Amino acid sequence: MKRFERLLVECPKCARRSGLSTPSILVQGRVVQGPDPKPCTAAAHPNLIFAAQRLERAWRLALSNWRARKPRMTEALTIGASAGQTKTVQPPPRAALTHIPGDEGWPLVGHTLSILADPKGFVERRVERYGPVYRTRVFGETNVTLLGPDANELILLDPQKNFSSTFGWAIVLDRLFPRGLMLRDFDEHRLHRRALSVAFKAGPMKSYLEELNAGIVARIAKWPRGREMQFYPAIKQLTLDLAATSFLGGQIGPEMQAVNRAFIDMIAATVAPIRTPLPGTKMRRGVNGRAFMVDYFTRRVPLARAQGGDDLFSQLCRASYEDGSLLSVPDVVDHMSFLMMAAHDTLTSSITSLVYQLAVHPEWQERLRDEVGKLGLPPDEPLDFEKLDGLPLTEMAFKEAMRITPPVPSIPRRALRDFEFNGFRIPAGTGVNINPLFTHHMPDLWPEPARFDPMRFTDEATRKRHRFAFIPFSGGAHMCIGLNFAYMQAKCFARHFLGKVAVSIVADVADPQTARRTEGNAGGDQRPDPALIAPPYDHPRNTSA
Ligand code: HEM
Repeated sequence: MKRFERLLVECPKCARRSGLSTPSILVQGRVVQGPDPKPCTAAAHPNLIFAAQRLERAWRLALSNWRARKPRMTEALTIGASAGQTKTVQPPPRAALTHIPGDEGWPLVGHTLSILADPKGFVERRVERYGPVYRTRVFGETNVTLLGPDANELILLDPQKNFSSTFGWAIVLDRLFPRGLMLRDFDEHRLHRRALSVAFKAGPMKSYLEELNAGIVARIAKWPRGREMQFYPAIKQLTLDLAATSFLGGQIGPEMQAVNRAFIDMIAATVAPIRTPLPGTKMRRGVNGRAFMVDYFTRRVPLARAQGGDDLFSQLCRASYEDGSLLSVPDVVDHMSFLMMAAHDTLTSSITSLVYQLAVHPEWQERLRDEVGKLGLPPDEPLDFEKLDGLPLTEMAFKEAMRITPPVPSIPRRALRDFEFNGFRIPAGTGVNINPLFTHHMPDLWPEPARFDPMRFTDEATRKRHRFAFIPFSGGAHMCIGLNFAYMQAKCFARHFLGKVAVSIVADVADPQTARRTEGNAGGDQRPDPALIAPPYDHPRNTSA
């Protein structure tokens, strides 16, 4: 890692640049490299010396954390601990992967920033250059990407239990959402998944739907009329509102803002390029957010157990292990924060993609509006659980939006044993990724992949395709447990949104991924009433590729 022998620091008092010979690093903010300085005397501004010392300390801390990180990542790779059998897997040395086509990118950051900037373009360029199995370096580790439906099936079905989800996701989620369902493997995962599944049965789902109906109607009513509106932040806020009611029972009270803030900080930290919680970094804010949420949920478990309730949190507080004992408080806390994260970003992104596609394809917007109209519900009347099946075109359009823009573009695992794919031997310990985003755009599976065509999801068309060709919700043991919740929220949103609002593209906006909203009912006299829809790729949740 490069150390700067002499840094030029912009003096916070006089705005001149002064040279500091203290070895330090460039973190962010006012530290700059520049031409010959006109130095202030450091004595005149002791805060410069202080800042340099803090940077020096942060640098040493970062270095020691980074050194400590390698063994930590593998030492906890424990399989079958409940059965008294433990197994540890070390990531292979870099040299063990050089037979896989690819490269390691920039020193230190590898390909992390390129993937964050353009997840789709990055994979396409790699495939063109190296083929469907390639090597990259992300978040400080070399890993291997395997592309296509056969790769998806191999990694996700995994009957031999060769691939760990815990140690695939750990590098992104471990500090922020440890011990969530997706971060558990095999027998332990099965036990917890079974315990959580009670919260997704028909009874609880009906009661979440009541909250979704009420929350969506209330929030859409607040959206500005007659002027532009950014859609992405609006739907993000709506999803947060809905989490507060259907997930937490709406009793958050004055802590609501703090809960939302903590939660947003945690999510933002999952894709932060700096993985150490240094002062001022996203990761530090995320780690602080987690501490807040752990404290908040821990205090609320006894209350929820005493009071009961139909929200998701109350369901988890009542859930039990196979021996009938209640989930432990730390388990409830970890599952709850993970569930909120798993639902939030994905729903925000997928509903944005759906609305964007409907804005670009007014004929589909009309078809869905007709379908909603045929439900025969008066304005603002709730959508019943029993009526969800009455919206098949809406479901197909939602699927097609997720095909084009899957909210989780890449899924990581870690190999526990050596394995082979497409003639490449990949050693135990390697981080591997599959890529829904790439699979969903393979022309062999999806002719004219960029075209929005919900008819790709008729029963007949679906039957003819590889069963791992469409994996927005993953597959196998870790397939999304909230998938029905997601369809339910998307349909409920479509029912209320399309009944009131029409969306279309703003002709004078250069970015094709923007659209505008017009008011009025379907078929009514709609006057242009622009609202911008943010590009769906604003916040890619997962960055490994
Ligand atoms: C459009 C919305 C959603 C999408 C695209 C989505 C996508 C995914 C994907 C791809 C996975 C599996 C990742 C892997 O195999 O490593 C997953 C797992 C999970 N999702 Fe979702 N999800 C969505 C909504 C939700 C909702 C609404 C909830 C909860 C209410 C939820 C809870 C979970 C949980 C708990 C897991 C872990 C399952 C396990 O490991 O057994 N998701 N989701």
